[in-house]
Amino acid sequence: MCGIVAYIGEKQALPILLKGLYRLEYRGYDSAGLAFLNPGLQLYKTKGKVADLETYIEGKNTSGTIGIAHTRWATHGEPNDINAHPHFSQSGKLAIIHNGIIENYAVLKEELKQRGYLFKSETDTEVLVHLIEDIMHNEKTELGEAVRIALNQVIGAYAIVIMSENDPDTLVAARKGSPLVVGIGDGEFYLASDATPIVEYTKDVVYLNDEEIAILSRKQSLTIKTIKNQIKTPYVQKLELSLTAIEKGGFEHFMLKEIYEQPRSIRDSMRGRLNAKEGRVSLGGIIDYETKMKNARRIIIIACGTSWHAGLVGEYLFEELARIPVEVEYASEFRYRNPVISEEDVVIAISQSGETADTLAAIELAKSKGATIIGICNVVGSSIPRATHAGSYTHAGPEIGVASTKAFTAQVTILTLMALRIAYMKGSIEKSRFHQIINELESIPEKVEETLKVDPEIKELARMFTFARNFLYLGRGYNFPVALEGALKLKEISYIHAEGYPAAEMKHGPIALIDREMPVVVIATNRGPYDKVISNIQEVKARNGKIIAVVTKGDIKVKELADYIIEIPETEEMLVPLLATIPLQLLSYHIAVMRDCNVDQPRNLAKSVTVE
Ligand code: M6R
Repeated sequence: MCGIVAYIGEKQALPILLKGLYRLEYRGYDSAGLAFLNPGLQLYKTKGKVADLETYIEGKNTSGTIGIAHTRWATHGEPNDINAHPHFSQSGKLAIIHNGIIENYAVLKEELKQRGYLFKSETDTEVLVHLIEDIMHNEKTELGEAVRIALNQVIGAYAIVIMSENDPDTLVAARKGSPLVVGIGDGEFYLASDATPIVEYTKDVVYLNDEEIAILSRKQSLTIKTIKNQIKTPYVQKLELSLTAIEKGGFEHFMLKEIYEQPRSIRDSMRGRLNAKEGRVSLGGIIDYETKMKNARRIIIIACGTSWHAGLVGEYLFEELARIPVEVEYASEFRYRNPVISEEDVVIAISQSGETADTLAAIELAKSKGATIIGICNVVGSSIPRATHAGSYTHAGPEIGVASTKAFTAQVTILTLMALRIAYMKGSIEKSRFHQIINELESIPEKVEETLKVDPEIKELARMFTFARNFLYLGRGYNFPVALEGALKLKEISYIHAEGYPAAEMKHGPIALIDREMPVVVIATNRGPYDKVISNIQEVKARNGKIIAVVTKGDIKVKELADYIIEIPETEEMLVPLLATIPLQLLSYHIAVMRDCNVDQPRNLAKSVTVE
């Protein structure tokens, strides 16, 4: 859950590393650090954000053409200057940066302490750098080999980069469970947790696989071997990422940019997969597994956070359209529950980052029991797509704001396409109905554009509720996951306590919370259980709650009851989440901005959760 960037070549490393750290800051932002060789090891690290590090190094000696840098999300040890990375070995000649968790660090630390090693930080990472130095010393071996031997003793997840004062022409990197990309330039190498720090320098990249070690040397081409000492031929891929996709493009925050990108990101997720004119839905990535999905005894959807909410929409879609029973599971619970899984089950794993540790572990568990695993991920080349049998990328483009927005609607889009495709194959949907839905689906990007026009109204609404202490979000059917997602967005970026509930459940408890201070956001669109939702609104009204209702354009009934109305275009009931989510994203955004919160990097959070 930290960001790693490193460089070796002819250029000055500092600007590359700093820019890279800013791009990776979404992965963690409680402390940051850099180390260079020039010719001795220079280390600078500080608590706080990358901007604090930039201020801290002003006027200091930061020259050097080889360097490593890190932005941290604390796991072991509080965020402070000492626990920040890089960490030095005992001799001060090795420096390491690390993303992940060394699970057996306590045992290793004890052994190293007995051999006289002193620890400055509370991190698991420092254990690793001492261990590597210890091996170099005892086995009289060079850095790459010592790293290999050390990693055979380590249990846990890691992406590491190590630099040695005794070998200024080499960087050694390795990964297991945490991502690492090597960029290959002209006589130079880049390393990073994702491709964003690399994209403007080279398009040639190699995604390291688990248990691979990369030796990046000024003197030779890229060498990759496994921790079992097998030499691998690097698989060089062309990056498709563009620079504009990772910049703010005139928006005040990445989150707002990403909310506004949704017409494009939904369109891109459907491109080549939906052809309403020809009446066709096809997903190339799952073609070999469609029959398996069609015949599945059960579909289990596993995910976390916002992706789990998308999974809930998927449950409604697959059950309604394809008539396959679906269970939606928090990956973190599923992995520890000894679940009953058979070879006839299909597991759909959903993840924006493709790196979520709980989702990865749940995939491995289901795989070991013979289930077929289908992935829905956004980050190309990440770990989850590689761990699954097949899958579909969401093509939402890089999502940098920590609060997930466009990834959610892209995930729901893919789930809709998948459910429609399987339903069509199974014959569980009438042809005419199938055509009706895909025609409507094709028009969704335009309707999202129209929905975005409510932004100024929502900004006004946000002004009225900036200092609310609690919020309740209610929805039924397809709008229940929308309510959950609305509440999650608000709490994670504005720190206002918010709960999402199925509207009918309110009377079983949460109704006790309602008074004139309580804003209640109700998604009350005109299809499905519309009248039932109106009754729920009345129940809130009777207790003086303030109703903010998301309704279908032209609605009359809810308008009479609600205190505030947000109108969205009319659409099929099953497609409403693609529209109704948008005003809720905007509401959270504006409230958070008005409360002066850090919208893109909310406190305590990180974009990809690569720890349990
Ligand atoms: O990358 P993933 O989709 O696997 O991440 C899952 C959650 O960590 C993520 O959705 C999280 O809840 C976001 N902060 C939500 O905005």
